[in-house]
Amino acid sequence: MKERLEKYGLNGYTIPEHIAIIMDGNGRWAKKRLRNRLKGHTEGEKRVDEIVRFSREIGIKFLTLYAFSSENWSRPEDEVKGLMSLLAQSVKKRRGLLLDNNIRLNFIGDLSNVPEKIREAALALSEETASQNYEMTLTVALGYGSRDEILKAVKDIAVQVKNGELNVDDIDAQTMKSHLYTHDIPDPDLMIRTSGEIRISNYLLWQIAYSELYFTDVLWPDFKKENFIDAIKEYSNRERRFGKTTEQIDKELK
Ligand code: FPP
Repeated sequence: MKERLEKYGLNGYTIPEHIAIIMDGNGRWAKKRLRNRLKGHTEGEKRVDEIVRFSREIGIKFLTLYAFSSENWSRPEDEVKGLMSLLAQSVKKRRGLLLDNNIRLNFIGDLSNVPEKIREAALALSEETASQNYEMTLTVALGYGSRDEILKAVKDIAVQVKNGELNVDDIDAQTMKSHLYTHDIPDPDLMIRTSGEIRISNYLLWQIAYSELYFTDVLWPDFKKENFIDAIKEYSNRERRFGKTTEQIDKELK
């Protein structure tokens, strides 16, 4: 691992355990080239492949990608269809990559609107990759909206209280976490958004309470290994204090 980090100039830097990405700018990338939006998404899918491979190579344990939001269902029908078909192709094409590299594929979000055949293929691959000794978890947010996720968790907890299975005073952050889609993965250390937009757009709102945020003007289809390395270096150079003072952190480190 040391050699691999050295190769990318990452020796001595802290590699985040979990990186979440908002892959934005596919449409603008295509527009700049007078191509249709789908071409931008197709090119974006190739960057997904590259970033997944690279993440595995440098030992990132969790990578969480925003592929399709709950709001994206209201995009033009052609684009939604194109994105779904891209997902289907991607599941087929990238199966070997996941299995050969011990990467578990995980989905978060409401998949009920995903066409049945595509959903079944995606979930089958998710099951297949979960049954191996995985080294990295690739989570794809699909039909995902953070407010919906939080509301669902609150409702589940309310039902438990109503049924007498849970005491109101026992509800804490861990209770919430256990009801989120992300119950089995740690919170992101670093959240990246491409394309120059400085927003979170309903992504992992609960989970990013203490994450470092990194925004870059680079459009997702242009986002290469080098850009990813820049984000990791910036993360490593920041001081994470989790609400404590520098002195407290220094003391804990001694
Ligand atoms: C945002 O760009 C991107 C999306 C809504 C889709 C992201 C999908 C991919 C990168 C490819 C598919 C991925 C998988 C895992 C199969 P935008 O269209 O909002 O761009 P714009 O803001 O420039 O219009």
